[in-house]
Amino acid sequence: MVSFNGRSIVSIRDMSHDDLIKVVETTKRVKHGELSGFLKGKTVATLFFEPSTRTRLSFESAVFKSGGSVFGIANPKASSQSKGESFADSIRTVSGYCDVLVIRHPVEGAARMASELSSTPVINAGDGANQHPTQTFLDLFTINESFGRLENLKIGMMGDLKYGRTVHSLAHALALFGNELTFISPPSLQMPENILKELDDRNVKYKSVADLEDAENCDLDILYVTRIQKERFGDPQEYEKVAGIYRITQETIRLLGEGIRVMHPLPRVDEIAEEIDSMPNAIYFTQAHNGIPTRQALLGLVTGGLD
Ligand code: CP
Repeated sequence: MVSFNGRSIVSIRDMSHDDLIKVVETTKRVKHGELSGFLKGKTVATLFFEPSTRTRLSFESAVFKSGGSVFGIANPKASSQSKGESFADSIRTVSGYCDVLVIRHPVEGAARMASELSSTPVINAGDGANQHPTQTFLDLFTINESFGRLENLKIGMMGDLKYGRTVHSLAHALALFGNELTFISPPSLQMPENILKELDDRNVKYKSVADLEDAENCDLDILYVTRIQKERFGDPQEYEKVAGIYRITQETIRLLGEGIRVMHPLPRVDEIAEEIDSMPNAIYFTQAHNGIPTRQALLGLVTGGLD
């Protein structure tokens, strides 16, 4: 029997196949209005040491919609870390103020460290280029909602696969369901070797290509587009070499197949033309809106309000 009560959600690597199904099924029940009021009396703290629109605001909306209370820091300059307080002391302190601590931090491993220091469950809302597990839960829910299944799909992941925490988490999750993956990126932004090794260990079928044209014959069900993340590059010249390298247009949809669904964790810059937004292929805003029931479900499960 899967139970999330009291558990921190730090990495998709910590999740079993049954854990992922449990969250997707619970999200479905929340979205369909079968579950409500399950955060009554619970307080959630959101500590964001990196910018965010969707993750922070959908967590906050999720708390309000489920009857709980939420407070937090959206700007690290407004916290006592700007006076020299250590990260560890901040976590030790704030975890005593809440029932769940949601944290985004630019340093890989910060959420794991927080979970070891915190007296309450920690939910990783993104740690550097490492993991973004709650994004993956909403991605899985959206895929299941669109295709009615999480297995036997052909999924292309495109863009910044080196620093993209969303694709790192998603690749781990999709590996548990028997899907075929195509990685589309410039050579300098390929999927990290450690993730490819884990896919090999799980006998996942995948290939890496540099050009979108090479994905034409892959018969993709989903193209998961990511932004080339300027803020993750140490050298601005390296960013300039790959900025704007891919752009999805109506012509791309025609080449890849009219049935393809286009996903994106957002924010986008210029990698998907706005002309795509109104096409039935575009499911990235539905995906973003699914962040609310997904995060309601996760908060309910870790606080024991849902089982
Ligand atoms: N997808 C995502 O993490 O978006 P934000 O950075 O706006 O939270």
